[in-house]
Amino acid sequence: ARITLRQLLDHAAEHDYGVPAFNINNMEQALAIMDAASSLDAPVIIQASRGARSYANDIMLKHMMDAVTEIYPQIPVCVHLDHGNGPDTCMTAIQAGFTSVMMDGSLKADGKTAADWNYNVGVTKTVTDMAHLGGISVEGELGVLGSLETGMGDKEDGHGAEGKLSHDQLLTNPDEAVKFVKETKVDALAIAMGTSHGAYKFTRKPDGDILAMNVIEEIHRKLPNTHLVMHGSSSVPQDLQDIINANGGKMKPTWGVPVAEIQRGIKNGVRKINIDTDNRMAMTGQIRKVLKDNPEEFDPRKYLKPAMEAMTRLCKQRLQEFNTAGQA
Ligand code: G3H
Ligand code: 13P
Ligand code: NA
Ligand code: ZN
Repeated sequence: ARITLRQLLDHAAEHDYGVPAFNINNMEQALAIMDAASSLDAPVIIQASRGARSYANDIMLKHMMDAVTEIYPQIPVCVHLDHGNGPDTCMTAIQAGFTSVMMDGSLKADGKTAADWNYNVGVTKTVTDMAHLGGISVEGELGVLGSLETGMGDKEDGHGAEGKLSHDQLLTNPDEAVKFVKETKVDALAIAMGTSHGAYKFTRKPDGDILAMNVIEEIHRKLPNTHLVMHGSSSVPQDLQDIINANGGKMKPTWGVPVAEIQRGIKNGVRKINIDTDNRMAMTGQIRKVLKDNPEEFDPRKYLKPAMEAMTRLCKQRLQEFNTAGQA
């Protein structure tokens, strides 16, 4: 069944678990996620970015979402817009059947300029005012994603702030978070504490200097009833890096967010955990391997099937680690 983010995260808060939000762009990713969720009786969030919408087409996405809820009627699924950049984008997502939207007002509509307080509160409130009338949930973001090691936004993978950012911008201020939630009435709040999108988050295993989980703890103390969202939460597992590199890939050494840190977040109000990169890596590793081992092969199913299975394994692992398993 299709449910809203608010319904799902309220249940997660009541039962002390987190819900991974996996990005999709195509049928294979949608089926892989649902296979994982249904085999573990887990609710799940499927999210699509603006890039996914232009890749797959809103009508295709809408019918794919309808299809997976028809195939797996027993699994609660929230269909969420990831990183909406303006009220218009959020409204067209709602028209396409999304039950939840992110209005990311931490950046201006160009997706690369850090926004100021009034802009962020203004656009976010516009979206919550409209979306809530139709029973649709809204995620907002306060603070800008980017690296505490370099001070750079995560422009590297195509979106995020350009240029140097201050620690003030890269770390969500807990008192401002309280004010932001009160003024915008968001259902969930994405916060910044040193993660960034893509595979190259940290140059070493992160400690508290570069992954500020203490900020989450402080925000949760001040906002115990607000659902928190961690973006950039791929763990970038070494074994997936190795499969890619052993089969012709060229990923540079890198670290992601350790699952143990996410689990610490879940103890402190984190309810939605955004993961895209890990699944991209899981699929690409298998595609590379099949094509390298079988250069005579040209049937897409021969590499897409193992790619889906690798994505399902990754999704199942996270559903277990976040205690989402068994909550459907
Ligand atoms: O926000 C980042 C997600 O990984 C989506 O990425 O904009 O390339 O689809 P995308
Ligand atoms: P990753 O790049 O770490 O998977 O983050 C995805 C994300 O935050 C989508 O909004
Ligand atoms: Na999102
Ligand atoms: Zn994100």
